[in-house]
Amino acid sequence: MTSKNVKRIGILTGGGDCPGLNAVIRGVTKPALDYGLKVFGILDGFEGLVEGRAQELYNKDVSGILSTGGTILGSSNKGDPFHWPIIINDKVEIVDKSKDAIRNYEAWNLDVLIAIGGDGTMHICNQLSNMGMNIVGVPKTIDNDLEATDQTFGHDSAVFVVSEALDRLHTTASSHHRVMVIEVMGRYAGWIALNGGLAGGADIILLPEMPFDWEEVYDRVLQRNMMGKRFSLVCVAEGAKPMDGELVKRAIDIKRTDPIQLGGIGELVANNISKNTGLETRYTVLGHLQRGGSPTPFDRILSTKFGVYAIEIALKKKFGRMVALRGSEIKSVPISEAIERQKLVKRTDQGVTAAKAVGVSFGTKDL
Ligand code: F6P
Repeated sequence: MTSKNVKRIGILTGGGDCPGLNAVIRGVTKPALDYGLKVFGILDGFEGLVEGRAQELYNKDVSGILSTGGTILGSSNKGDPFHWPIIINDKVEIVDKSKDAIRNYEAWNLDVLIAIGGDGTMHICNQLSNMGMNIVGVPKTIDNDLEATDQTFGHDSAVFVVSEALDRLHTTASSHHRVMVIEVMGRYAGWIALNGGLAGGADIILLPEMPFDWEEVYDRVLQRNMMGKRFSLVCVAEGAKPMDGELVKRAIDIKRTDPIQLGGIGELVANNISKNTGLETRYTVLGHLQRGGSPTPFDRILSTKFGVYAIEIALKKKFGRMVALRGSEIKSVPISEAIERQKLVKRTDQGVTAAKAVGVSFGTKDL
């Protein structure tokens, strides 16, 4: 599928939505139309690719969307062509629909598919690329857990929301002398908790990468109280877990490639702090507020650069690659390489050492 010139482009947004998706769609479509190419927006992510739902995009469709949240194309995290749920005899069965995806790509006469998504989307892209589809990936996710890029777009916007929420919780915490616990997203990576917690001045940050010791958490809030600081802010990643415990799951949904829906650790942490320290404690689950709404200026700029670069490499037929931020430059890396490892927080990361230096506890003795 690589021989002819690129004239017809498909674009889709896969997985959970996040601020900056529309800015990428605009960043791809505007220059593509200027080059005289045709752009087809595939609806609802890979679901639309499998089911054959797409519409042609014109300038008017992508005008005025730079600052809007969500995605004008729709998205889905249940549309993995290789893990497609169908109902047989009232039971969910998983089948492979990748041939339908390829068939529609060919029926639309596409020369390349630009797929905007996170880890899950890039895994699908890699498999479709191995089947011969021409693909360029663009890394999105508020979780920032893709190793191949210094940052994914959407992360900065999520961190901004966490930071603002912590500022707001701070005032109630200090006025009422309470412990305020905030649960943030990020799945198995602690970047939102670490960066949001740093930006919002959290006293304790609990990360999936560093299982925590309950006694350390209780000691820290009690110590602060004894020192006259009669409140504490605790920022907990949804994937954080105690040393002697398990991940806290809200639900299991086998229709998704990763069936685990995390959630509930914030409530557990708040209940245990209250029970074991006697301090008045409240919890807030920030949830999808972190994913919605307008992208920050950083994310608008990064998304635009990603989109424009994606169309440039598509025109050069550099397929099977994902655009990536490396230092201050946008480059591209093979998708197969990009999905090799998840980017997780390390104890030696500067964010962790800086947090330690300003007195943040990670709930472990050895840090
Ligand atoms: O990957 C982005 C993310 O927001 C995670 O941080 C979170 O665990 C998950 O998606 C939530 O997914 P859903 O919106 O399907 O509940």
